[in-house]
Amino acid sequence: MEIKIADTKEKVAQEFSEYFKELANSQETFNVALSGGSTPKIVFDYLAGHFGNEINWKNIHFYWGDERCVSPTDSESNYKMTVDHLLSKIQIPEGNIFRVLGENDPQEEAVRYGKILDNELPKLNDIPQFDLVMLGMGDDGHTVSIFPDSISLWVDTENCVVSMHPDSGQKRVTITGKIVNNAKAIALLVTGAGKAEKVQEIIKKEKYFASYPASLVQPSHGQLIWFLDQDAAMRLTN
Ligand code: 6PG
Repeated sequence: MEIKIADTKEKVAQEFSEYFKELANSQETFNVALSGGSTPKIVFDYLAGHFGNEINWKNIHFYWGDERCVSPTDSESNYKMTVDHLLSKIQIPEGNIFRVLGENDPQEEAVRYGKILDNELPKLNDIPQFDLVMLGMGDDGHTVSIFPDSISLWVDTENCVVSMHPDSGQKRVTITGKIVNNAKAIALLVTGAGKAEKVQEIIKKEKYFASYPASLVQPSHGQLIWFLDQDAAMRLTN
């Protein structure tokens, strides 16, 4: 595991974008799972603003690690956020975008999306393999859309499952731990002081770390990089 600490969240976005560019341009088809949240938003702005012409977008296939069960035009949709901040600003073939249909029945969609992963992605040990899974971590230690109160979904045998946000009750379709941990590379982007305590517990394996889904991000053979800003990393350095 590697930990990169940047001064600000904008610097995190820059560092991750450079890492993304290197990886993505180094191969013909690059399969990436995106996440939602505030940090990816500034990453997408950076990618579109600085690397619009420097990345071979036609080689990149976009998937989502999780999606909220809402329509693709809803302000809560991770797909909409990605369209607004990245996809509408780059030259990318429509066929390279594999979105979760948040407007459909959640359970049926989890099954359908799981099959898409089976059919489209190369496999390792019979499990679909992403080149890169981009993750965030919530203040409660959740990652993708697997929350502490339903942490057992992480080890579900399906590729995708339905989960529920513990406060709002909003349903989500999310990939499971076997897909996350089978990736060639995993990037965990975490910014802000609100995350510092969980970052400390997880990285130092202290206190309640085992109850946070983000602590289960442990690639079986790939690379894991934490991209942190100073605020999120403050309890690591003290
Ligand atoms: C989602 C996410 C989620 C997110 C974290 C961190 O759709 O809600 O994919 O897992 O990455 O909640 O979000 P922030 O970057 O906003 O803290």
